[in-house]
Amino acid sequence: PNKHAVAPSELASYFGKQTCSFLQKIGAFADELQVPVYLVGGLVRDFFLKRPHKDIDLVVEGDGIAFAKQLATAFGGSVRSHESFGTATWANEQDIDIVTCRKEFYLQKGALPTVRPASIYEDLARRDFSINAMAIQINRSSFGNVLDVFQGKQALIDKHIRILHPLSFIEDPTRLFRAVRFGLRLNFSLSSETIHQATKTGAALHHISAKRLRQELDLLANEGVLFEGFRQLADLHVWTTLFGSRFSERAWRHMANLQQHGLNDGMFFLLAGAVDCTRLDVASRYALTKQEKRLVEETSLPVWQQLAPTASLGEAHRDLARISSEIVRFYSEAELPLSPLLRRYAEKRTQFKPLLTGADLLKAGYQPGPVFTQWLLEIECLQLDGHIATKDQALAWIAEKT
Ligand code: CTP
Repeated sequence: PNKHAVAPSELASYFGKQTCSFLQKIGAFADELQVPVYLVGGLVRDFFLKRPHKDIDLVVEGDGIAFAKQLATAFGGSVRSHESFGTATWANEQDIDIVTCRKEFYLQKGALPTVRPASIYEDLARRDFSINAMAIQINRSSFGNVLDVFQGKQALIDKHIRILHPLSFIEDPTRLFRAVRFGLRLNFSLSSETIHQATKTGAALHHISAKRLRQELDLLANEGVLFEGFRQLADLHVWTTLFGSRFSERAWRHMANLQQHGLNDGMFFLLAGAVDCTRLDVASRYALTKQEKRLVEETSLPVWQQLAPTASLGEAHRDLARISSEIVRFYSEAELPLSPLLRRYAEKRTQFKPLLTGADLLKAGYQPGPVFTQWLLEIECLQLDGHIATKDQALAWIAEKT
């Protein structure tokens, strides 16, 4: 193994003195139990890059949950554990995630792993990219020793995202999304072998569950790089695999507009792709909620073909009143002949205050029934077109009808 050491002072200046001496205390305690313990993964990457880190992740050779419980007994605090993953969170001075070294084993491609005890080397070898596959030991005698078997530090210098073995993406196709995300975040590029393997992932991509794919898209969106991420994923053949065809330039402009106008959401991007290559079934597969499934269904309503781009706002409202405002906004960014009308309509709809409600009709003595809905819609349309402007005019219009 390629061992270098990091000086305790370097760890102290990154983590702060207090956290660093806390880590030293944990390391000394682990020595007594003869448990090898390491800082690991993204945390080590961020330490070398001097980028802020979120959590403290420790990995132990041995039983991570038992170790977390022993720490809590010795130093106080509480432990939440996930037995099936061999992971625990120890809440003390700060939350520390403690994981059992494992040699990941996939029951089903893209699904969650089951745990087998393993050495630190096996644990590092199962990881996604060399920059995420380094560890720093914190046991007293080895405090600061770096384990970097896969030349992760060199990859940080080269600004490369590099997989550890050729089947990495087949084993876990969500890594394509991770590769793109880390690349965009750190301004790194995928190494040529990594690109080569990524583009060969093929059908394994279909094994990513809807939930995990959407999580990955949310992570890209949260980092503000959803559009760029979608583009790079296209270069890696992700969308041609999932949708069966390329997205047109118009679909890409649609996505760019969506991002620019705040519909910066994986579901809308998927929908833009699906509408473009008429694969609503793919969008449905990745729609997680009932509301999202409804959005997908709304895109196949005839109104998008039938509504004239020259229609008035009132005429548009007659057709669109029951359609969710998200889908109206979605199409208003689609560069369709209809889009300018939809944009004006969407804007009006957000500020719209109806002149009449059902309660007004009851008060005026009308018998409630389905006709109420019709009247109220009609009043809204007339109001939008400026034909009536007051409650009295609205009531007069209804009186004339009856
Ligand atoms: N990991 C992996 N394969 C995955 C997911 C995670 O090998 N599909 C490993 C990587 O070593 C990663 C670590 O698990 O560093 C932790 O995963 P995660 O918290 O998702 O990644 P971080 O690198 O910590 O990312 P972030 O900076 O976004 O928190």
